[in-house]
Amino acid sequence: MTVRPMNIDPDKCLIGGAWIAPTGGQTLPLTNPSDGSRLCQIARGQGADIDAAVAAAEAALNGPWGQATAAERGRILAKIGRAVQDHADELARLEAMDVGKPLKQARADVMALARYMEFYGGAADKVHGATIPYLDGYTVYTLREPHGVTGHIIPWNYPMQIIGRSVGAALAMGNACVLKPAEEACLTALAFARIAQQAGLPDGALNVVPGLGAEAGAALASHTGVHHISFTGSVGVGKLIQQQAGANVVPVTLELGGKSPQVVFDDADIDAALPFLVNAGIQNAGQTCSASSRILVQRGVYDQVVAAMADRYGALRAGPALEDHDLGPLVSARQKEIVSAFLAQGAGLHCVAQGQVTAEAPQTGAYVQPTLFADVPPDHVLAQDEIFGPVQVLIPFDDEAEAIRIANSTPFGLVASCWSANGARQMRMARALRAGQVFLNNYGAGGGVELPFGGSGLSGHGREKGFEALYGFSTVKTVAAFHG
Ligand code: NAI
Ligand code: MG
Repeated sequence: MTVRPMNIDPDKCLIGGAWIAPTGGQTLPLTNPSDGSRLCQIARGQGADIDAAVAAAEAALNGPWGQATAAERGRILAKIGRAVQDHADELARLEAMDVGKPLKQARADVMALARYMEFYGGAADKVHGATIPYLDGYTVYTLREPHGVTGHIIPWNYPMQIIGRSVGAALAMGNACVLKPAEEACLTALAFARIAQQAGLPDGALNVVPGLGAEAGAALASHTGVHHISFTGSVGVGKLIQQQAGANVVPVTLELGGKSPQVVFDDADIDAALPFLVNAGIQNAGQTCSASSRILVQRGVYDQVVAAMADRYGALRAGPALEDHDLGPLVSARQKEIVSAFLAQGAGLHCVAQGQVTAEAPQTGAYVQPTLFADVPPDHVLAQDEIFGPVQVLIPFDDEAEAIRIANSTPFGLVASCWSANGARQMRMARALRAGQVFLNNYGAGGGVELPFGGSGLSGHGREKGFEALYGFSTVKTVAAFHG
């Protein structure tokens, strides 16, 4: 099937408000992972296209976009949010076909994108500087200013959500953006930019250049005309991007995934915990930066939790995205290879349950069986490395101190949760767990666009989402006036 969706030219870049063929004249195939078929060709943008996009962004900053007041920017973002909702069905289908995520998850991503626009639209005119008491004869104040041109290099797992949280906050603060979507999934990025333009975003405020990471991505990360880089993706590429941006002394926000634990104590409400324990591992087929891939359970309830999770795993079904099963395929045959290699490393482990791929699912799709391992040594590779597939490990522990030691024993620190009825323990755990977000008796709080998000260690640094992101996407200028 070839798609030419929603008034977009998928084999072109959107630069300065116009669809422009990549200067190299080359395209890349985009695949539907549910059946391996070709969706369409996308642009293979290169350095010259990034140059053009950065120039268009700079021109927008010197034009109407740069002159828009904070309230005007907010109004435009709010309009974009409504326009996203108007196109919800088309966007959800595009994302489902492109990423392979079940339709209901794609719909939730559309609503999150709309909500980001609404939230950052409302916040745009509420960020302000301060007046600072200083020496006699001085008035000192600070201005919150945009960085200028911001680069956004995003992955394929949640294109709409990640555009919402990074581009939304950047635009709210008055930056002009160059977006490099992932080569595996970039249709909703193009569709969103088009929708934003139609909703009133001035040309050049958001430019999209699809292409390969090593080409368009590297060109953006090392561009001297870019003033801030936001990256979500793998640790290896995150390190490269920090180096590339570092050569130009450009600040970066890195969100590099994790190995997020949920810690279940004997006194937890197990029935309440169960759906969160499983869903946080299999949502988006486990291809989620904040996936919870480690479940730590105190020995008193360990067997009970293992049995209950195994039951749920046994009932899980993976199938084509548009058929809306529990899981879709992985994003690509390559991702399936990565996850299968991890599963092979679990050969000696105690596999307690696996879900099924539906009999009707095409053999050519990138499906894997969701898999649950128990009694996994905390230092095993499956308990230490980010798998990015529907695989969870269960680890028993004796007491709070051991739980903390195991929970904090990976190089990551993105998200964690504690399930316990003991309020004092909840407070201790919230402080002790190394993570940018800690959830008490829940996991993920439904996504929460309002909640600052980001990691420490190999999970990266900087915060997106919530009001906090607005500080990252702006800079402070101090003005000191001497008037005697
Ligand atoms: P990746 O890190 O290669 O891709 C993410 C983005 O970075 C894409 O837009 C890609 O084109 C770009 N990119 C790649 N190389 C680049 C370079 N040299 N310079 C600039 N940009 C570059 O991730 P990939 O290969 O798709 O997935 C591999 C693993 O990475 C996954 O199995 C998972 O463990 C992790 N990952 C984590 C994500 C998260 O949400 N934290 C998202 C995607 C992947
Ligand atoms: Mg890659």
